[in-house]
Order: sequence, then C-alpha cells, then structure tokens
Amino acid sequence: MAAHDPSKQGLLGSTSTEHHVDYSSDSDDNVNINTTPKRPAHRQKQQRTRRTQPTNPTLPTFQPLPTRKSWLARRSRYCLIFAAFGLILFVILLVGGGLGYKAALQEPPYGLSPPWYPSPKGGIAGTWYESYQKAAKLVSKMTLAEKVNITTGVGWQMGLAVGTTAPAVLVGFPALQLQDGPLGIRNADNITAFPAGITVGATWNRQLMYARGKAHAIEARAKGVNAILGPCVGPLGRMPAGGRNWEGFGSDPYLQGVAGAETIKGIQSEGVMATVKHFIANEQEHFRQPWEWGLPNAISSNVDDRTLHELYAWPFGDAVKAGVASVMCSYNMVNNSYACGNSKLLNGILKDELGFQGFVMSDWLAQRAGVSTALAGLDMTMPGDGLRWANGKSLWGKELSKAVLNGSVPVERMDDMATRVVAAWYQMGQDNEEKWPRDKGPNFSSWTNEQMGVVSPGSPTEQETVVVNQFVDVQANHSVIARQVAAEGTVLLKNEGPVLPLSRAGLRKRQDANDTSDRVKIGIFGEDAGPIPGGPNSCPDRGCNQGTLGSGWGSGAVEFPYLVTPVEALRKQFDSSEVELHEHLSNQLPFSLSEKAVIDDLDLCLVFVNADAGEGFKAWENVRGDRPDLFLQKNGDALIQEVAARCGGGFSDVVVVIHAVGPVVMERWIDLPQIKAVVFANLPGEESGNALVDVLFGHVNPSGHLPFTIGKSLEDYGPGGQVLYLPNGVVPQQNFSEGLYVDYRWFDKKGITPRFEFGYGLSYTPFELGNATVKTMRPKSALPFPRLDDLVEPPTYSTDIPPVEEVLWPKGDKEVRKLDKYIYPYLSAEEAHNAVASRNGGKKYPYPDGYDTPAPLSQAGGDEGGNPELWAVYAKVTVDVRNTGKAAGAVVPQLYLSYPDVPKESANGPGQVDFPVKVLRGFDKVYLEAGKSAKVEFNLTRRDLSYWDVEVQNWVMIMEGEYTFHVGQSSRDLPVSVTW
Ligand code: BGC
Repeated sequence: MAAHDPSKQGLLGSTSTEHHVDYSSDSDDNVNINTTPKRPAHRQKQQRTRRTQPTNPTLPTFQPLPTRKSWLARRSRYCLIFAAFGLILFVILLVGGGLGYKAALQEPPYGLSPPWYPSPKGGIAGTWYESYQKAAKLVSKMTLAEKVNITTGVGWQMGLAVGTTAPAVLVGFPALQLQDGPLGIRNADNITAFPAGITVGATWNRQLMYARGKAHAIEARAKGVNAILGPCVGPLGRMPAGGRNWEGFGSDPYLQGVAGAETIKGIQSEGVMATVKHFIANEQEHFRQPWEWGLPNAISSNVDDRTLHELYAWPFGDAVKAGVASVMCSYNMVNNSYACGNSKLLNGILKDELGFQGFVMSDWLAQRAGVSTALAGLDMTMPGDGLRWANGKSLWGKELSKAVLNGSVPVERMDDMATRVVAAWYQMGQDNEEKWPRDKGPNFSSWTNEQMGVVSPGSPTEQETVVVNQFVDVQANHSVIARQVAAEGTVLLKNEGPVLPLSRAGLRKRQDANDTSDRVKIGIFGEDAGPIPGGPNSCPDRGCNQGTLGSGWGSGAVEFPYLVTPVEALRKQFDSSEVELHEHLSNQLPFSLSEKAVIDDLDLCLVFVNADAGEGFKAWENVRGDRPDLFLQKNGDALIQEVAARCGGGFSDVVVVIHAVGPVVMERWIDLPQIKAVVFANLPGEESGNALVDVLFGHVNPSGHLPFTIGKSLEDYGPGGQVLYLPNGVVPQQNFSEGLYVDYRWFDKKGITPRFEFGYGLSYTPFELGNATVKTMRPKSALPFPRLDDLVEPPTYSTDIPPVEEVLWPKGDKEVRKLDKYIYPYLSAEEAHNAVASRNGGKKYPYPDGYDTPAPLSQAGGDEGGNPELWAVYAKVTVDVRNTGKAAGAVVPQLYLSYPDVPKESANGPGQVDFPVKVLRGFDKVYLEAGKSAKVEFNLTRRDLSYWDVEVQNWVMIMEGEYTFHVGQSSRDLPVSVTW
C-alpha cells in the first residue's frame, strides 16, 4: 500500500500556522503582556532569500594581468583594499552573525500547527458534574489574585514539594503540593521505591498496575502530596535509546494506554490526583528543551495527524477516559509550536476531542510564553518561574493578573483555568478535611534531608527555620507489591536445558558427574549483582551507573529506602551446605591468574550486566539522558564473553541477568553455547534481589513479557528509531516520517527478524491456546454516532473584567510577607492602573491567526474520553488457554488485530490507507494450575477497530473485507486466529 503522505494530513501539512514562541516575559507594553507579536510570514522568506542570494552574474570574473611596475605600485593599494575588504567582511559577519543569532533566538520557524480556539471549557461531562457545580460556587467567590494563585506555581524551591501552587485563602482553597514521580515519591524518606514503569509494563498484569498505583497514592497522601507527577506514557519509545522510555510502560500505545489507565485508577482511588505526562511526542532527551543544550530553542517533533492519534495520543485518550485529573504538557515543540502553547494539541485534541475535564499543567519551565499559552489551553504553570530557573519572573503570576485586567486574557479563560483546578480537587474528594487536613502541606522537604530547614529555600530572603522533615514512614507493606511487580516484570528470554529454575542446592543436575567435591561451585559475576559503593542513593537523582541497577535517573527516580541486591538474596537462597559461592562483583577484566583458576572450576556462572539512562538534566559518562547505543554498559558484553569462555573451562552453564532501561543488543554473546539462560529483569526497584530469586528459583513462575522489541542492532529499528544527537538547525527538527511504524510495527513492515520480539517471554511451563471464536456485539458501521450535545453545561460566570482592587497588594491586617523571587499575583497601583489604561486606550493583544474563528468541534469528541461510542464493544473474541505442563504459572494471551486487506480504491475513506501488519488490541494475564484451562475474553471497542481518517477527522471502521484477530503469546507467536 502507498506510504502515508503526512503533508496532506492535518497537523504537519496544515497551511494555517500558529506561532507560540514568546521571549518577552515582562513587556512594558501593557497590552502585549508576555507576548511577542507574530512575525509576518514574509519576513522569514526574505531572510531565506538573503542568505541564499547568488553572486551577481554581471560582475567580471576575469581581469587582464597587470604589468610588473604597475603591480608593484598597486601592491600597497591592493593590500589596503584587501584589508578594507577583510574588515568589511568581518563586520558583515559579525553583524550578520549577531543578527542571525538574534534571529535564531527570537525567530524559530513558523509553527505548522493549525490554530484551535477558543479553549473548550471544562464541565461538559456527566462524570464531573457535581465537582464542577461545587467548583463554580467556590470560583465565583474568588478574587482575580486567588485565581492567579491557584494556576501559577510559587516558584522553584519556594515550597517543600517540587511544585506548589498558592492557596486561595479567602475561599479556603489550599495550596496544592505536586510531587514526582512515576515510580514513587521523589526526594522523600521512608517511601517505597517501586519498580519503574517499564517493569510494570512487562508484567502485562492489569491488577498489579492498579495495585502499584494505589499503593503509591497511599504513600503520597500520607506525605501530604495532592498530585503525583505520573504516570508517564510519553515517551512512547519511538527510539529504543531514548533516555526516559523506562518511566513509561512500553513501546506500544495500547499497552501504554492500559497500564497508564490502570495506574491512574489506582492512584485516584485514593483521592490523589494523577498527572499523566508528557503531552506529547517528547521522545528524546537531547534538545527536549533549550537551556540544557545551549540552544535557543527546543526540538520540534513533527508528527502527522494520523500518527499522532493512533500512536502518541492514544494512551492519553485512555488516561482521560480513566478520569485523570491533570495532564502535563511537554518541553518540546510539536510541529514547531511549543507543546505547552500549542492550541491544536491542548484546546483541540486534548480538551475538545478527548474531552479532558481536568487541568493542563506545564512541565517545569516548559511554558515559553504568557498570554498565548493561556489562550492555547494551559491551565497551570510550573514551577511558576518564567523562562529561566528560579528567576522569580513568572510568565503568569502578576503578569497574568495584568493580562486579565488589560483584556488580553479573556475573563472566561481565566475562570475556566481556575475552575478546572478546583473541579479536579473536588473530583478527588480532597475537600474532605479528615482525609486531607488543610494547611498541613507536605511533611517532608524535597530540598534537604535535615529535620530543620526553611520552607522556601529558593528565596534569598531570611526565613525562620522550622521542622521540614517529619520522617513519616509511609511504606506499610508495599514492598510486597513492589516485589510482586518486579518478579512478574522479569522476562525469561532463554532457558536451554532447561537450566532454570535453580534449586537451593544449586543445580538440579550436576554438570560434571565425575566431580567429587562436596558442594556445587557457583560463581556470581558483575558489579550489577552487588551493592552501590556509598549506598543506593550515592549519586543525586540516581544519575550514575554503579552497582546493581534498580532504576534509571532523573525526576522519575526516588531515594531508595533500601535496595536488596541480587548477591544478598542469592547468598540467602543457596543452601551453603550444598553450594560454594564465588563472588566476583566487578566488571574488571582480564581475570587474574588466581581468579582464572577458580573460574575454571565452577559448575555454574551467573553474570550480571546492565544499561542505564535517564533524564537529560544529568549525564553519566557518555549517556546524556539518551543512550548513545544499545550495548550493555561497563564492559558488559566482554564480561559475559569472558565468563562464558572460562566458566568450568568453558564447559559449564552460564545464566545472564540483565537490568536495563530498555532493549539491549545481545548479538555478541547470545548464541554462545554456554549461555543457557537469559533473564531480563528490567528495573526492579527496592526489592530487586528478592524478586529475582523468586524467578530464578521458581517460587514465581516467570510470566513477564517484553514491552518492546529487542533487535539485533540499533539500525534494525529504522531511521525513526534513531535519536537526533546533533542539532540539525536552530530549532532541531525531528520528522516522525516513519509514521505508525515504530518498534514491532517497523520490524513487521520491513520483514526484519528481531532477536526477541515484542510480547515475548518464556515460562517454566508450556501453555496452549486454541478454539478462537468471535461474537459480534454491535453491527459494524463506518463512523461513530454523531457527537451528542453536551450533556451538561460548563459553569458560567460574569465576563466583566474584575476591579483592580482584586489584584492589588493586600494592605493592613491582610498584608503578606514578601519573599524575594517568590511568585505573587499582586500588582502595584501603578501597574494595575497601566493595565486598565491600555485596555481603555483600545490597544489590542495581537491574537494568533484563526483566533477569531471558532474551530469546529470534533465528531470524535463529546464526553470525557471522546465520543462515548468509541468505547462501545463491537466484537468479543474468546480463546481457550491451557497449562499443559507440570507447574502452575501465569500466561499472557495477547490479541493482535490485522485490518481488512481491501483494495485501496474500495476502502471507505480517502482510499490511501496503509496499515501495520498487526497491532496489539488486547491482553490478559491468567494464572493456571498445571493441567488447568480457562476461557479468555477480549473486548474490542470501536476505537480498537478503527483508524484515524485524516480527511474525515474521525475514527473509521472498515466496512469491507474481514478483520483478523490473532491470539498468542507474543507478537510473533500467534497460533490461533479468527476473522470478523
Ligand atoms: C520532568 C518532569 C517532572 C518535572 C518536575 C521535569 O524536568 O520532565 O517529568 O515531573 O521535572 O520534577
């Protein structure tokens, strides 16, 4: 089928443009607060022309040679002319360079993202009705300053959490405390270090996904946190070396969507707000934002409309459907418009089409403009500072107060922003003072481990010292869940012999029958088996790779309360009367002579290796967030090869255990005859060793499956799978030209054989699948029902611009203490006066093109999660699954869908539709005793069965031909299928 042409489809190719980059944080112009007027399109063109102007063809290219005399006479003149010419050139270059740099700084290319205005108001979903009713009552009583307070962070390190809003004191709305991150409570003591998202994805266990979210939220509430900054479903994993893929659940939108939604439901069942992040297409760390990379601008992820819908926005759709309270917009640009100021994304897709009812929060400093971001749908700016860290110059705060007073930000928008925040708070039940005592705040500080400290260490103003760390232990028995997730998220990739499971007495069968020694000799190799020198938290934010790898680094990491190393757990597990352990907890090669002698005599070798990555604000060796390649780190490949060659003189079995942030290339050793087993333990968190032992010894029958493809090389992932390591322009451009074809979809399309495919994972017992049937639950139809009128109406308030008194610095007994750099909403009388004067003077904010033309509402929208019909079940597939072995275990039946193979011309829609060979659309995890069987059901919704039609701008089901549902235990082991 013809390749999909993004230039014809929606976002990427739109001719209408939107430019939301703004570099003047506190403009003197009272109308254009925080905004730079749009640069006329022709200016860019002119500049381009200038730069590429050809030399003048009329200039002579050849002059007759001068005579020697005249040459000597003229030499000094030539010198002068050359010198003058050189000087002029130098000046031109200097000025040009300066202007160019200035232009680069201020004028990234025009956005290619269509405008979508006005920002849809929250309060159209029945599921949030009561919360909006209550919110409206509260917000109607708020002053403008209070509305600004609850939508603007108070500044970096101005509260105890990583993000804090100010309260609306007069109406009793508290400051909100927002804390990372997806795998536990960041920067806190006595919490659980859960396994990372990628490990959770590898469990394919919905109940565990939910349970981990719930336990995380119980801890958050007990620490005084209102909102968890997680789960993370973006990055999706387009690039296997991407630094933060491990925070999410795997490189498939369906898996990310289910895991994200279950986590959100778990978190919010405890009344804690979940924040799904990062919206959207923040797929690599390099250039995710400008300042870490010395660039004037962040990278632009250029994504076409269909790909955006079917891949990157898909899991966010699940999150919204699950009722998520908050969405964090990302640092990067999308189609050359910053994600936190991109009206098509925030207003159009998130709020209108997906019907998101909560609030949009910026990633930390991802807001790059003031008024325009409010218009584009941003509701809360974090941490509150402006374009730079801790500068105290917010793009909102008092600038937002001005912008409302001078009429730039419509009052309706301001009210909607505040209402969304308050409604989310009610929706979670945080108004319940028994569960959420007011004025308590977090009982820990993100900024110090000392008991005493100041509340706003970000401010240079002297403050009183108070108890900031109460060291409240919130762990309860959550280590049980952490261990279970880690064990079920461990993937058995290879098991010849089978060498696993081990027994307490070592091997179940001696390798060498002539061995006369009493005990089995087992070697443990690699620093990944052992402790981290200096303790598990010795590197800030876990930003280094030392000892065993329990998590990646960055804001998604936590302080480990403890970390059970593999070697500790193994020592306990092996029966020392039967097993003689030899530990070599280093990756140092070559082995010494005495070491060689010991290794030569071993019966079994366990080798531990790893690969780490993390968030771009930290680098470890040559890993600047994103990995530079997919190889094991710290000499891991050589260690495995050397152990394989030496263990028992090259005749004993070797088990490889890998801890990693994502796929690693194993080609250098995977086929060595000594490598009998490979265990991929992902990032297991605090219970690492215990969970590993559970699997190695068969206490838990392995049931983890890969949440990504392990290719034979990085190149196998295709051009779209490569991180952009060097900027290719002032605004680095990354075109997602591969479209839908990431991970297994790419391998399938190109017929590339991976080493281990997506969904792969072995068990100690075999399972059989059979007897697939499909039942039609609703008759097929191409389009969902037309969008219904909103069931409920958003709250309405007066649209009058409030009196200036609402934002003046409070006086008398209401006076507030001023902390330097702290973000306040208040204005001086003069500032307020100027704002009003500019409004009265008729100055108008230069609204973006298309601002005055209301965008048509999406037919795919209409309720929380979009058109409710998209979630209706159209087909139910059933299969029988049986445990045919001798051990109990859990199986993961996976359903992949192949779209009908119809001639393009006859497909409904535009007739230019290209489909992946198959896409994941269902999975379950079923525990079965030996010999037992069960029926597994997969419900396929309209969305599952549709593709995003860019012409129709809706989800479309194919009416002709037959859908095929394949079911099996991996994306390439699909023994049963049924058509529909
Ligand atoms: C990260 C977010 C995180 C925030 C607050 C940012 O650098 O991208 O994921 O939630 O910091 O720590």
